[in-house]
Amino acid sequence: MIDKVRRRLSYKYTAIIAVMLLFFVIGGFTMCKYMVHKVIADTMRDALTAEIREAEGFGMGKISRPRETVMVSDISSIYSYAYWFEDNRPVFAEHPKNEKIAELCLEKAVQAVPGNGLEFFSLRDEENNLWQFYMISGRTAKGKVVILVNVTPLKLLSGRYIYIWLGALLLMLAVARGCGNFLADRTISPLVVLLERQKRFVADASHELRTPLAVLLSSIELMEMTDPKQPLVAGMKEEVLGMSALIGNLLELARADNKQQILHRELFDVNGLIEGTLAHMNSHKDIRLINGCGKEVLVKADKEMIRRLLLIFLDNAIKYSPEHSEVIVRAFREDKNCRIEVEDHGIGIDEEDISHIFERFYRADKNRSRQTAGTGLGLSIAQEIVERHGGRIEVRSTPGKGSVFSVLLPDE
Ligand SMILES: Nc1ncnc2c1ncn2[C@@H]1O[C@H](COP(=O)(O)OP(=O)(O)OP(=O)(O)O)[C@@H](O)[C@H]1O
Ligand SMILES: [Mg+2]
Repeated sequence: MIDKVRRRLSYKYTAIIAVMLLFFVIGGFTMCKYMVHKVIADTMRDALTAEIREAEGFGMGKISRPRETVMVSDISSIYSYAYWFEDNRPVFAEHPKNEKIAELCLEKAVQAVPGNGLEFFSLRDEENNLWQFYMISGRTAKGKVVILVNVTPLKLLSGRYIYIWLGALLLMLAVARGCGNFLADRTISPLVVLLERQKRFVADASHELRTPLAVLLSSIELMEMTDPKQPLVAGMKEEVLGMSALIGNLLELARADNKQQILHRELFDVNGLIEGTLAHMNSHKDIRLINGCGKEVLVKADKEMIRRLLLIFLDNAIKYSPEHSEVIVRAFREDKNCRIEVEDHGIGIDEEDISHIFERFYRADKNRSRQTAGTGLGLSIAQEIVERHGGRIEVRSTPGKGSVFSVLLPDE
C-alpha cells in the first residue's frame, strides 16, 4: 500500500516539476527565437532607412545605365544585398556570388511590395543547397529600395540549437524524475515510520494476547466438562473462539506486513491439495463440496499458503450459502499459469461491495454480517497470499445467485 502511495506521489511531483521545467525550456526557446528575429528585423529596418536616404541623395533619376555589383559573399556568410528600382526597373543591384541565386534574388526583389514588412523566403542553387533570406523594401520618390539578408548560417545554427534544447529537455525530465522520487520519499517517510510502529504494535499485541486466550479457552473447556449444560459457558466459549480467530488473523497479517513470512515454493498437485482440504472441511451446514477438476494440476507454490487460501474461500462459500447448496472447486492450467476457482450458489456480493471486500475488517451488509461470525480479515489474508506469489484474484458475483473467487497463480 505504502509503495503504491509513494509511486503515485512520485508521479505527481514529477509531473508538476516536469511541467514547470517544460514551461521554462519552451519559454526560453521561444524567447530566444523572438529576440533573434527582433534583432534582425530592427537591423534591417535601420539599414533600409539608410539605403533609402542614400538612394534619394544619389538621385536615382540620374542613373542612365543600371549598375550591378557581384559580391564575394557565398552561402556561409551573413550578408546583405541592396536593390534600387526606378519604376520597377533595376538601376542598382548587389548580387550574391552564385549566379542562379543572384537571378532568383533579383526576381524576388522585383516582386517585393514596399510596406509589407519583413518577409522570409528560401531558394535552392544548382547544387541543391538551401539559401534562406529575409527581405524588406521601402518606397522612394520614384521607385523602391529592397534589402535582402542571407540568414542561412543563422538558421542552420538555430536548427542545431533545437537539438541542444531537446537535450536540455530530456535532462530536465530526468532531473524532474529524480526530484519527484526524492520529494515523494521525504513526504512519505514519517508515514512509513508511523506505519511500522503500528504494525509492530499489532504484531506484539496479538502475540501477547494469544497465551491468555489459550488459558481462558482451556479453563472454559474444563468448566464445560464439569457442567456441560451451562449456556453461559457455551456463550463464553464461542466469544473466546471468535477472539482467538481474530487474534490469529491479525498476527498472520502483521507477519505478512513485516515480511516475516518466507515463501517455501515446492512443486505439488493442486488437485490433490483440493481433495485433501475438502475431505477435512467440517461444517454444520448441509452443503455439497465438489472437486471439479479431474486431473493432476502441478504448480510451484507454497503449499501451506495455498491450503490456507482454499480454506478462506471455502469458509466464505459455506458461510454465505444456504443449506443444501453446492460449492465447486476447480483448478486448471491457463497458459503457463494455474487457475483456482471456488464457486458457490450463495447470497452473492453487491457490486459496490466487491471493490472493498479485500480491505481489512470490511464486511458487506452489516446487518447480515452480524448474524454470521467473522472478522472481515479472511480475504485480506487471501490477497496477501496471492500477491506474495505474484498472482491476482478476480471476483465474479451476482447478488442472490452466487459468487466465483478466481485466483491466477504464475508458476514462478
Ligand atoms: N462467497 C461469498 N459470498 C458472499 N459474500 C462473500 C463471500 N466471500 C466474502 N464475502 C463478503 O466479503 C466480506 C469479507 O470477507 P472476509 O472473508 O474477508 O471476511 P469474513 O468472512 O466476514 O470474516 P473472516 O475474517 O472470518 O473470514 C464478507 O463479510 C462477506 O460480506
Ligand atoms: Mg471469511
